[in-house]
Amino acid sequence: MIRILSLPLFLVASVVTPGLHTNNCRCLYGQSCWPNNSAFSSLETQLSQSIIRPIPVASPCYPASSPGGNCTDVQVHLHEGNWRADQSGALQNLNFETYTYKNGTISGCYVNASLGFLCEQGSIPPIGVDARSVSDVQAAVKFAAKNNLRLVVKNTGHDYLGRSTARGGFMLWTHHMKDIVYSPAFIPEGAQSSEAFNAITLGAGVQWHEAYNAVQSHGRFIVGGFSAGGSVGAAGGWVMGAGHSAFAPRHGLGVDNVIQFEIVTAKSEHLIVNSNQNSDLFWALRGGGGGTYGVVISTTYRTHEEFPLTSVIMVANFSSTTVAKSVVTEYLKIHPALADAGWGGYSSLSNATLQMLYVAPNRSVADTNLTMNTFFDFVSNVTGAPTQAFLLPYDSFFSWYTQFFSLGVGQVGYNVELGSRLLPRQMVETNAEKVADIMLSLEGGVALNFVAGGAVSKVDPESTGLNPSWRKAIAHVYFTEVWNDGDSSIVIEQARQRLRDKLNILDGIAPDSGTYLNEASLYEKDFQKTFFGAHYKKLKAIKNKYDPKGLFIVASGVGSDDWDSSLNCRLL
Ligand SMILES: Cc1cc2nc3c(=O)[nH]c(=O)nc-3n(C[C@H](O)[C@H](O)[C@H](O)COP(=O)(O)OP(=O)(O)OC[C@H]3O[C@@H](n4cnc5c(N)ncnc54)[C@H](O)[C@@H]3O)c2cc1C
Ligand SMILES: *[C@@H]1O[C@H](CO)[C@@H](O)[C@H](O)[C@H]1NC(C)=O
Ligand SMILES: *[C@@H]1O[C@H](CO)[C@@H](O)[C@H](O)[C@H]1NC(C)=O
Ligand SMILES: *[C@@H]1O[C@H](CO)[C@@H](O)[C@H](O)[C@H]1NC(C)=O
Ligand SMILES: *[C@@H]1O[C@H](CO)[C@@H](O)[C@H](O)[C@H]1NC(C)=O
Ligand SMILES: *[C@@H]1O[C@H](CO)[C@@H](O)[C@H](O)[C@H]1NC(C)=O
Ligand SMILES: *[C@@H]1O[C@H](CO)[C@@H](O)[C@H](O)[C@H]1NC(C)=O
Ligand SMILES: *[C@@H]1O[C@H](CO)[C@@H](O)[C@H](O)[C@H]1NC(C)=O
Ligand SMILES: *[C@@H]1O[C@H](CO)[C@@H](O)[C@H](O)[C@H]1NC(C)=O
Ligand SMILES: *[C@@H]1O[C@H](CO)[C@@H](O)[C@H](O)[C@H]1NC(C)=O
Repeated sequence: MIRILSLPLFLVASVVTPGLHTNNCRCLYGQSCWPNNSAFSSLETQLSQSIIRPIPVASPCYPASSPGGNCTDVQVHLHEGNWRADQSGALQNLNFETYTYKNGTISGCYVNASLGFLCEQGSIPPIGVDARSVSDVQAAVKFAAKNNLRLVVKNTGHDYLGRSTARGGFMLWTHHMKDIVYSPAFIPEGAQSSEAFNAITLGAGVQWHEAYNAVQSHGRFIVGGFSAGGSVGAAGGWVMGAGHSAFAPRHGLGVDNVIQFEIVTAKSEHLIVNSNQNSDLFWALRGGGGGTYGVVISTTYRTHEEFPLTSVIMVANFSSTTVAKSVVTEYLKIHPALADAGWGGYSSLSNATLQMLYVAPNRSVADTNLTMNTFFDFVSNVTGAPTQAFLLPYDSFFSWYTQFFSLGVGQVGYNVELGSRLLPRQMVETNAEKVADIMLSLEGGVALNFVAGGAVSKVDPESTGLNPSWRKAIAHVYFTEVWNDGDSSIVIEQARQRLRDKLNILDGIAPDSGTYLNEASLYEKDFQKTFFGAHYKKLKAIKNKYDPKGLFIVASGVGSDDWDSSLNCRLL
């Protein structure tokens, strides 16, 4: 690894290898085919905002090459999801900001300038559109199509597959599309006037904290994601991938709550998509994955009646693997009944500890205790210690969210990749011991998102494009591999090898089940089956109908199998 300080940023930003540009390949930044400044100026005249030129978020930490900005600010907000989402040149997971050359050299811009690397553009697209309207999106899509650019739709940048960035690409940034419209009697386009929903329409850039504030102000509930600061996008990649929630066992997944999408397609057509019109696209957008079928302008969700809830918090520490196995087996077995009652939540477990944060919607503390107390006693008996459990009442989901998630720091600003599987309900019903064994055998343990079963299983698997395995699942189980800024590509490859090895083991909990594509690995042997199951073929046919030239291609996405591993050259 060469460590030199520091070339001017504008110089090092222009190093995209000038490759052979054929009709089968995208035109990338730095190549002679790249549109000139007057082409971008002419695009700019069609836009409501100036063209943006994203630079790596840590650039201010390299004042010699990138004067201006405030490095302290970058350091202070490193792990803040909402701050990162506000920066066009940041992603939530640092590794996707970097680019690794074939020779193993990594290009990027680390916040710690003392590591001794240059600040380079990495995988951040050098130019893009800060879209605010349908016509902004249409202009950007037309421009990308006409110039054969690698179009990147970026919302919050939370993606774990790096789908919201691409080296040398052209960014369509949806973050500022913040419209929120609440409609107590929303009628989908083309529907009978009797078919009215209590609904909320969220612009593509709305994040969960904003959506929650809005529905709360109308005394309603919405199914959404939970992360520090509520920073995940509410209308973009989350929902197109499935959209899970602690409240999904009560009210279904994100995809089950969508009534209508508004979208701009690859042909820059503006379509209203619902069960009455463009219904094939409506099917595909609900599970076919982000960045694949067009640019979603807004998503309309049904809202639900509010309810109070009791939150269950439990921590158990294990003195031995035998104790861990006994507790975790019992823990797994309680889930089918809890899912049927509409409970959900998040936990993490290893052979050292089990930690749970669950919700019991519309249940009193006393009721919740009746349900949980046998398990608590069991844990206490087996661990030989009083159970550390707390049952806390909340008058609404919003007060629960505020208590546990409104603090905006955590979860992001790391180098991280995931491996995961959907855990079939049948496995915990018939084979909980085996599942416990497998999960506990993974160094560092696993996280278990209790976000399936219940209402999720009552939806007809054929009614959406979502991987049908979701309907048979009770939970989503994942583990992480992390590394540090500045680690060599050899160290990173070792982490990825551990990830592959662990994934092979975890696969044992779910023969033929598959996984949640939004929280998954880039190294699946058969992403078509694992991410989309039996729906892949139909999803691809719909993809080819709306995007025949493959303008919207993302890693392990529908149709990406027609492209090479760089996703820049079409194979056929
Ligand atoms: C800290 C953290 C917490 C999370 N919590 C949850 C959770 O509670 N529940 C859950 O289900 N998942 C969760 N996830 C996973 C999350 O669903 C994915 O990261 C998802 O990709 C986020 O979508 P986004 O639009 O916010 O992000 P982005 O990374 O900006 O986009 C993700 C993908 O969607 C595409 N996309 C985004 N907007 C549009 C649009 N308008 N039109 C077309 N394509 C679009 C992008 O091109 C990209 O392919 C979490 C992730 C993180 C990092
Ligand atoms: C820019 O590119 C266009 C073709 O896209 C060409 O017609 C024009 O002459 C170029 N302008 C300059 C200043 O090079
Ligand atoms: C830089 O950012 C820090 C942290 O956000 C802030 O306290 C400080 O005032 C900023 N300095 C300048 C010169 O803006
Ligand atoms: C690796 O390749 C890149 C791009 O071609 C080049 O800039 C870099 O100097 C190379 N690194 C080494 C160690 O050869
Ligand atoms: C930055 O990197 C240097 C050199 O490796 C190291 O000594 C220092 O602790 C790092 N600083 C932080 C905040 O990680
Ligand atoms: C909550 O439960 C009560 C019965 O205990 C029921 O009457 C009420 O409708 C429920 N409310 C919601 C929003 O589910
Ligand atoms: C479990 O262990 C953690 C530290 O690993 C400790 O903080 C916590 O108090 C322990 N809890 C119980 C119930 O023993
Ligand atoms: C816990 O242990 C006590 C005493 O041995 C026993 O009576 C009780 O049934 C056990 N409870 C559970 C849930 O295993
Ligand atoms: C549940 O109820 C039992 C019996 O009343 C009580 O001993 C226990 O402390 C309660 N558990 C919690 C977590 O409140
Ligand atoms: C299980 O726990 C032991 C210590 O009790 C630890 O050494 C071992 O690495 C752990 N195994 C796994 C797979 O986490």
